[in-house]
Parts: sequence; structure tokens; C-alpha cells
Amino acid sequence: MAVDYRTRLTGLLKRKGGRSECFCLPFFRQASKNQARLQVLFFRRKNALCIVFRVKNMVHYLCIESVYEVNCIMYCTRKITNDITWVGASDRRLHLFENVYPIPRGASFNSYVISDEKTCLMDTVDYNCGRQFFENVEHALNGRPLDYIVVDHMEPDHAATLQMAAEKYPAATIVCNAKTLPMIQQFFTFDAAARSLVVSEGDTLCLGRHTLSFVMAPMVHWPEVMVTYDALDKVLFSADAFGTFGALDGYLFNDEVNFDRDWLDDARRYYTNIVGKYSPQVQKLLGKAAGLDIAYICPLHGPVWRSDFGYILDKYNKWSSYTPEDKGVFIAYASMYGDTENAANILACELAELGVKNVVIRDVSNTDESELIALAFRLSHLVLCSPTYNALCHPKMEHFITGMKHHGLCGRTVALVENGSWAPAAAKAMTAALEGMKNLTVLEENKVTFKSSLKDRAPLEALARVLAKDL
Ligand SMILES: Cc1cc2nc3c(=O)[nH]c(=O)nc-3n(C[C@H](O)[C@H](O)[C@H](O)COP(=O)(O)O)c2cc1C
Ligand SMILES: [Fe+2]
Ligand SMILES: [Fe+2]
Repeated sequence: MAVDYRTRLTGLLKRKGGRSECFCLPFFRQASKNQARLQVLFFRRKNALCIVFRVKNMVHYLCIESVYEVNCIMYCTRKITNDITWVGASDRRLHLFENVYPIPRGASFNSYVISDEKTCLMDTVDYNCGRQFFENVEHALNGRPLDYIVVDHMEPDHAATLQMAAEKYPAATIVCNAKTLPMIQQFFTFDAAARSLVVSEGDTLCLGRHTLSFVMAPMVHWPEVMVTYDALDKVLFSADAFGTFGALDGYLFNDEVNFDRDWLDDARRYYTNIVGKYSPQVQKLLGKAAGLDIAYICPLHGPVWRSDFGYILDKYNKWSSYTPEDKGVFIAYASMYGDTENAANILACELAELGVKNVVIRDVSNTDESELIALAFRLSHLVLCSPTYNALCHPKMEHFITGMKHHGLCGRTVALVENGSWAPAAAKAMTAALEGMKNLTVLEENKVTFKSSLKDRAPLEALARVLAKDL
């Protein structure tokens, strides 16, 4: 029997002097809003929710006894194994992940409860999902107290509700590493140190039949990141690794969806933009994970993997080693009045005529940078086409090139197409912008320059032949 405090929050307000009065939630909310000196403390005692608050030096104590218990029916969970339950939630209202990346399909924020002799919560979720999440945790705990909260990652998309969880489950020990603890203290006000269990690489935590071991994964997004392995059910709780944008349509497992068709593009866009910069660290983690016997990969976003590990590991290996996933040509162009765009289209047609597969054209001005970055990771060859703009390349093109550099992309073959009406200089500017990207092969001899509109197709045809041969 779980408690739904939201709908049944009525009870007795006992003043210090023993007088008591009935009140309900709206009154309490009003009091919170209007009283500047109001201090509130929530805690849970047995089957009751206790609230202590002070108004004008008077301490009030409210206890909602278990008589108000009702069935918690708003839960939305999925079982992963007998003992492990997914208690995460999807957010379809969030437009921009990290306020940067468009997520038209939303995102899921995963969290898991392990029920053994001890109970354990694996990370929490973002604020927006908090209501659903706490319903889910309550349901998964089925009336039991929570003994541990493992914090694999402190980024607020997973840790925003940590303080609420810590207060809701005051007996829970916070399991974290030495880099995590000070971050918890930076973000929150509860006394994390007093109730933490600080773990290091290889440490284990026995929950009964399940033994968790901790593997540090620094910079597999943030410096404090660790992943957790459950030896009994062979589950890797992989933090942001193996995560993807996209809300869950009820299906939680990779074998319940058509990942390649419906999820891969978002998974690539997630990886390359969120974690791509830290690919060497991802490679290290993949090396450590190779030594584990894994039956489930439970990431903090997107589907849980329980089959076809070769598929996703191959993708991760490629992305994190900057190896192109597909041989093909990504033609990225900028164009103010259409002539550079025209050259991009002609080049693509020439490549198609030559039988080249995987040709993709994108306008850098109206394609979100996260998609451009993902395509640059995916394909082996890049053609950058830009008009000259104030003696430089088009600002959107420069921005895209800087983005590739920031994300650590390397090892691509690059060709340049420039346009200009009086002194074309876009190729020079693009070359300068590319500096710092490692292992690029720039097809200097096949640089295409034209003035205003294309008058000679031969240089583009020659470039197409060189690219086709090189693929
Ligand atoms: C704001 C602005 C700045 C430009 N600066 C240069 C320049 O510095 N050098 C040059 O040769 N052309 C310059 N141009 C001309 C364009 O590069 C040229 O007209 C080109 O053909 C435009 O290609 P598009 O049709 O693909 O937009 C500039 C055009 C604009 C609108
Ligand atoms: Fe993260
Ligand atoms: Fe995340």
C-alpha cells in the first residue's frame, strides 16, 4: 500500500501549545507563499509524511498518518528483471535538451529500482519528470524503505530530484564517488556527507543477492561519472553512455523497437553532440566494459539493451574512434541567393550518376547544428560549399566548422567549393577554420572556385570523379 500525498494531503496541524486545527493543502500553499520567514522540512516517518515548519518563530508540526493511505495508481514502470524495475519517465514538452539540442521526439530520463534484501535506486530524474518518477519509485518499493541511492552522474537531467529523493527517503545512504560528493554539496543543501558511502573503482556494495561494483568513467560526460555493474542479473547501468534522445513509446527494450530505423539517427545525434567530444574516455570505458559479462545495458536515456549488443557496440566503437559509419559524401552548403546551393545540387547529381551511395546535402543555415555534426560523424567525405562573405566564408559555415572542431571530429576527407562576386576568399577562410582538426585529407587540387554563378561544370564533375574513386 503506497501513499498518495498529493490528493489526500489533509490532516491535523498541532501547535506547540497542543491546540490543533484541521487544514488542507491550499491553506498550506498559501502560507508558504506569503510568509517570508517560513522554513519547511519534509520527512517521512514509517507510513506518515511529516512536515515541520516555522512561521514567525512558532514551530508547527504536521503529520499525515497512514489512515490517509490510498493505492498509488499513477505509476508507469517496466520490469527489467525480477528484481530490477525501470522507474524513469519521458518528457515530450522539453524542446531543447540542455537548452541547446532540439528534441522533437522528446527524451526519456531513466532511473531504476533494485529490490533485494536492501533496496537501491539508480540515479534520479530531471525536475519535469519528478512527479511521475516518485510515483514510480513508491510503486517499485511497494511500501519498503529505500536503503541506497546510487549517483552515477550529477548532471541535473539525472540529479535534479536527488535532494527531494534524499528527503523523501531519509534513511537512504547516498552512494557516490569522491568527485560526486562535493558536487552534491554544490547543488544541494542536505547533509550529503553525513549519509554518504563514497566508493572508488572496483568497490562493491552487497544488496543481498545482488552485488554492485563501481567502474569510474570520468568525462563520459562529466568528471564524476561512474557506471555500475550488477553481477547477479549482469546489468550495466551505463549512465549517459548508450543513451539517446527520444521519449519512450511504452517500449523500453531495444528488441521491442526498430532501433536502426527509428532510433539510430537520434542515438547518433545524442552521442556525437553530447558525448562525442569525450570519445577517448568512451573508448576507455568500452575497454573496461569488454571484461564484463553483460545481459542488459541500462542507460540514463532511451531504450534498454538486452540483445544485439554487437550492433550498438559497433556504432559506439565507430563514433568514439571517429571512424565513419558509412562511406559517403556529406555536402554542407551555405548560400544567400542560391548559386552556391546550385553547385551543391549539381555535385550531388554527378555523384549519383557515378553510382555513389550515401550522398546527403544540408543547408547549414537551416539545419540544426546537432544534425550537421551527427552527419559529419556518420560519413567519410565532406564537401563544404560557401559563398564569400565580407572576405570570409559564410558565418553559418564557419560556425559549423567550429562545431566540428569542438566535437573533436577528425580523420575525414574534405573538399571545398567557393563562390564570390569580386574576390572569392571562402575556401581560404574555410581552410583556416578547419585548422586544428586532426588527420584531415583536404582535396586541395580539386578546390572549385566560381564567380557569382556556375559557368563551367567541369571542375565540379572532376571533383565528383575524385570523390567517387576515393570512396
Ligand atoms: C553581405 C555580403 C558580403 C559579401 N562579401 C563578399 C566578399 O567579401 N567577396 C566576394 O567576392 N563576394 C562577396 N559577396 C558576394 C557573394 O559571395 C556572391 O554574390 C555569391 O555569388 C553569393 O552566392 P549565393 O548565390 O550562393 O548566395 C558578399 C555578399 C554579401 C551578401
Ligand atoms: Fe550527462
Ligand atoms: Fe543525461
